[in-house]
Amino acid sequence: MPLFSLRPLDPKRAGPFAQYCLPQALQEANRDGGEMTFLGAVWDQSACGAAAVRWDRDRGVLISLFVDPLVRGRGVAGALLDQLLEEAAHRSVPLLLASYVLREDSLTAMDALFLRRGAKVVPLAPIFEMDSRRYHDSRFLAPAFRPAFQPDPHIQPFSAFSSEQLEELERRTEIPPFLLPSAYRKRLEPRLSLAWVDEGRVLAYILGGESGPAAYNLLSVWREAGAPASCFLRLLTAQLNLCYYRCGGDFLYTLSAVTPEALYLAERLTGGDYTLYEEHFAQLETAHTPPLQEGGEHASPLLDNGPSQV
Ligand SMILES: CC(C)(COP(=O)(O)OP(=O)(O)OC[C@H]1O[C@@H](n2cnc3c(N)ncnc32)[C@H](O)[C@@H]1OP(=O)(O)O)[C@@H](O)C(=O)NCCC(=O)NCCS
Repeated sequence: MPLFSLRPLDPKRAGPFAQYCLPQALQEANRDGGEMTFLGAVWDQSACGAAAVRWDRDRGVLISLFVDPLVRGRGVAGALLDQLLEEAAHRSVPLLLASYVLREDSLTAMDALFLRRGAKVVPLAPIFEMDSRRYHDSRFLAPAFRPAFQPDPHIQPFSAFSSEQLEELERRTEIPPFLLPSAYRKRLEPRLSLAWVDEGRVLAYILGGESGPAAYNLLSVWREAGAPASCFLRLLTAQLNLCYYRCGGDFLYTLSAVTPEALYLAERLTGGDYTLYEEHFAQLETAHTPPLQEGGEHASPLLDNGPSQV
């Protein structure tokens, strides 16, 4: 007797499954209406988890996978993933990719999910998460939280740039490719990304994005050798101010430390007061996936195609 069942979900009517879907995944489904598959898991007639994949031309990208803490460790995520792999095989999509930022048991379990199925899992970078409250009394950053704050006149949001200006920035060979705005296309929010502009030339920038309710990312920072030393601090203060007012209060702020300089910056910014996550990247060749439910350790999931009534 199966303990849980799976069912296809309509992201526009996710109902009780919505709490298990990353908000960005639901927004993406509602906005683009592209090729996506959403699955829900049901335990004892209640929603208990969900997964979502976006189908690009030759690959599936896992954009959300979450299982209720009450039923973790019982094979629900494995069953969701296997079902998505079946769908990939059905679509003749040879690769499933996933990039996830997790910690502790969730990170171990997510790695195990992919490794067990033959995936290559690569650690990308540590991610530091801070609470913006810690900056209220900061000597340098406290102005970001005051109503009278005005950004430096050199600061311009990316949302004010023309497409020609953005293209010109992408052609600047002195900017490492992994720091360019194009490297963050899906996550970058132009109104939270700010440049230091002097006589029409971008000398520095800070890129930002929204990662969930009351949660923002510092995605990338770049500064030309000749830029004023204080411009980073001013860009950062202006970005924190935008996040604070957009959120309507305090928020979680994360930054990924991909280089030794970024690691140093993260340590300075956090002052040791942070939660550490890790970003891992998994690449799974769907054709090489071993059969489902190896050794019959988990109860067999049922794919229930009936109407969602949980
Ligand atoms: C990662 C997650 C989906 C796993 O869900 P789950 O239903 O508990 O996973 P399963 O029971 O299918 O177990 C998957 C694998 O992890 C292992 N595992 C599960 N919990 C574990 C734990 N606490 N420690 C070590 N391994 C663990 C299982 O043994 C299994 O490996 P195996 O097949 O080699 O035996 C779940 O922990 C979760 O939802 N975490 C939060 C994820 C999140 O924040 N998502 C949002 C961003 S996408």
